[in-house]
Amino acid sequence: MEYGHKSVMLAEVLQQLISNTRGIFVDCTLGGAGHTKAILETIGAKGFVLGIDKDIRAINAAKEKLKDFSQQFSLIHGDFRYLDELLNSKVEKVDGFLFDLGLSSIQLDASERGFSYKKEGPLDMRMDLEQKLTAYDVVNSYEKKALSSLVYQYGEEKWASRIAGFIVKTRERNPIKSTTDLVDVIKAAIPASARRTGPHPAKRTFQAIRIEVNEELKAIESALWQTVKWLKVGGRIVVISYHSLEDRITKKIFKNLAQGFMCEAGFKNCKGFEEPFVEIVTKRPLRPKEEEIIENPRARSAKLRVAERK
Ligand SMILES: C[S@@+](CC[C@H](N)C(=O)[O-])C[C@H]1O[C@@H](n2cnc3c(N)ncnc32)[C@H](O)[C@@H]1O
Repeated sequence: MEYGHKSVMLAEVLQQLISNTRGIFVDCTLGGAGHTKAILETIGAKGFVLGIDKDIRAINAAKEKLKDFSQQFSLIHGDFRYLDELLNSKVEKVDGFLFDLGLSSIQLDASERGFSYKKEGPLDMRMDLEQKLTAYDVVNSYEKKALSSLVYQYGEEKWASRIAGFIVKTRERNPIKSTTDLVDVIKAAIPASARRTGPHPAKRTFQAIRIEVNEELKAIESALWQTVKWLKVGGRIVVISYHSLEDRITKKIFKNLAQGFMCEAGFKNCKGFEEPFVEIVTKRPLRPKEEEIIENPRARSAKLRVAERK
């Protein structure tokens, strides 16, 4: 199968990210390599792109897709949460970072990865196939309180407590093994009247479990603090988020950096400095054009924020 994914807000990304065609750019979320390929086409022979993904399948597929640019890119299989470690000894300074958060369509559409509530598959949901923790472990071994709190926090699901209760009751009889088993439990937990409107009843819970399995919010936060150390003055951080939790973290970190605050992951040990680290370029996030949403409905929720190193 082709590693196919329609890159979101491609023109906007290129416009916001590339100020120097001889620059070094880091695509922290390589995915289907669509953004990386377009960056390589735009920067020409003097620029360089480093592509990172924690999914080995994305890395392998990108090698083939980018083969015409052999001297101009390098790929790293790793988690952008450890950005410093991944970049050390590879680059000195960076002209731009791109984060196109979440999953690629190819991950979502591959039923055996267990990300989709619309497809029958195992409860897996790992982006990194070498990782131990899977969705099965979360669903079948977390205590009720922990389940309820993660579904509430990461899914912003008001029926979180009922869903956690139903999960625990169901698994007392038999483990919950597949995506469709889990969808059935969630549907049973949410009253029919509340299921009649709005998104698919399992959407929020699946998002929450996926965030937990991959520690997605911790990774975004940790990486964004690390970017400023690597950026050249005038270099940019471009972040595309797809739900409010990702967007809120991005907005909050940009705001702190623009006010001269630097923190560690978890907003711990924040220190104030005299000078701001960045200037916020997008006071309000950029949104995809209506034509793009019609052509690619997955772009609908995208919000693009940009900060520039001072
Ligand atoms: C939305 S897709 C990117 C699509 C890509 N921009 C394109 O144009 O094809 C997000 C990708 O980021 C990867 N990813 C998500 N979190 C990551 C992390 N913490 N570290 C490394 N890769 C991550 C996912 O595995 C996925 O392949």
